[in-house]
Amino acid sequence: MAITVLGLAGSARRGGNTETLLDWCLGAAREAGAVVVKLSLCDLDLHACRACDACRKDGVCIQKDDMQLLYPQLRNADSIVIAAPTYFQGMPAVPKMMVDRCQPFWALKYVLKRSIADPDKPERLAAFLSCAGTTSTHAFDGSRLIVRTLWNVLEMTHAGEVLCPGVDEKGQILKQPGARVAAEEIGLRLARGTKRKGKTRG
Ligand SMILES: Cc1cc2nc3c(=O)[nH]c(=O)nc-3n(C[C@H](O)[C@H](O)[C@H](O)COP(=O)(O)O)c2cc1C
Repeated sequence: MAITVLGLAGSARRGGNTETLLDWCLGAAREAGAVVVKLSLCDLDLHACRACDACRKDGVCIQKDDMQLLYPQLRNADSIVIAAPTYFQGMPAVPKMMVDRCQPFWALKYVLKRSIADPDKPERLAAFLSCAGTTSTHAFDGSRLIVRTLWNVLEMTHAGEVLCPGVDEKGQILKQPGARVAAEEIGLRLARGTKRKGKTRG
């Protein structure tokens, strides 16, 4: 069965720097034989977590918006890659909203003590792609922490990141040395996946 790679574009600027990174990454994954699904989060009908705690009962979110389409994809994709720029030293509101709406997975894992990952499936891989207008050494700290926390909740293995500082105007990523190769390498990694769990012990 082909590996499925879910690519989430987190910028409202369509065809911008981070979406370009995502397209390079997904293009390489597709070339390598993966089934690629790309979604632009800003095109979806997404709403903020209401902190109603309903998901603590059964791990299900009661809000009926496009997260209901995303939940099964987030749970079942073999690999996930999020592309989002730095806004105010963190993650833009729309992708952060999507991350917050992953609270049902948190509830499943930590309140209901159920695993998110299917134990019979290979380890799932995840990656993060980002650009920041400045060259501040802390430009990616906020988003990286959020994304690593999400991978932890989704029981995914961090498989790499491409972080491009000093990339501001639309299209500037095209002049960033090494960015395309780095994004394509991650795409290949996500498409290859990992070996099945539990076969190397002993
Ligand atoms: C609302 C907003 C806030 C931003 N905040 C930051 C910031 O805190 N630090 C930074 O380095 N760049 C910041 N930027 C610049 C973007 O990170 C940069 O333009 C990036 O290349 C945009 O990627 P995109 O083309 O995928 O949207 C900000 C841009 C916008 C629109």
